[in-house]
Amino acid sequence: MDKNSHIKFPVVDAPRLRLDEITDKDVKAIHKLFTLPEVLEYHDLECLTDREQAADIVHEFRARFDERTGIRWAIRLKKDSRLIGTVGFKSWDREMRSTELGYDLLPEYWGNGYATEAINAILKSTIFNELPWGALHRIQAETIPGNSRSESVLRKLGFKEEGLRRDAGYWKGRYHDLRCFGLLIKNA
Ligand SMILES: CC(C)(COP(=O)(O)OP(=O)(O)OC[C@H]1O[C@@H](n2cnc3c(N)ncnc32)[C@H](O)[C@@H]1OP(=O)(O)O)[C@@H](O)C(=O)NCCC(=O)NCCS
Repeated sequence: MDKNSHIKFPVVDAPRLRLDEITDKDVKAIHKLFTLPEVLEYHDLECLTDREQAADIVHEFRARFDERTGIRWAIRLKKDSRLIGTVGFKSWDREMRSTELGYDLLPEYWGNGYATEAINAILKSTIFNELPWGALHRIQAETIPGNSRSESVLRKLGFKEEGLRRDAGYWKGRYHDLRCFGLLIKNA
């Protein structure tokens, strides 16, 4: 069921970036992003092999929004509108007032502060009040130990490390420890 047919997808503005909806026009860019081993090194996703899989991911992102279980933005450079990554929330739990953050960027754009800028813009935006999904109090994120870039991003944004869940993930034929980070939103 499309619960959000009347809700406009919220666009978020950042100094160098525009965050907006991922559409069918982005399938090629999403395919490229999720075929790169560097992007997927600490990810539960296997490298994509064909364009159909990228189309499925785009549809899944849209379904999360339609079902009110999450939202995923395209991260686009303002200067040329190129999709350079994605960011968003999944497992949005209205009762628990919590959600999970995820993000990824094409490697050629790493190290320029783009991921931090994108997430910071979301946190400072009014989207949590605009989405009629109930109050949000906690944002959590999980990293695989070794993903220092991602942990730097979270720490810069004020996320606190909360502990290590041993062997909490299983993908690509082995167990993975997951390091938990959390950010509390004060006014909810
Ligand atoms: C994680 C990711 C989104 C970071 O994007 P980014 O735009 O490069 O992030 P930023 O530039 O905002 O910040 C990166 C930080 O990592 C630091 N960093 C860079 N190389 C590093 C390294 N080898 N080890 C540790 N930290 C490193 C940078 O110095 C920077 O911190 P600083 O500003 O305090 O100096 C990107 O690396 C990525 O897409 N990785 C693959 C997907 C992924 O792992 N997603 C997260 C899953 S939890």
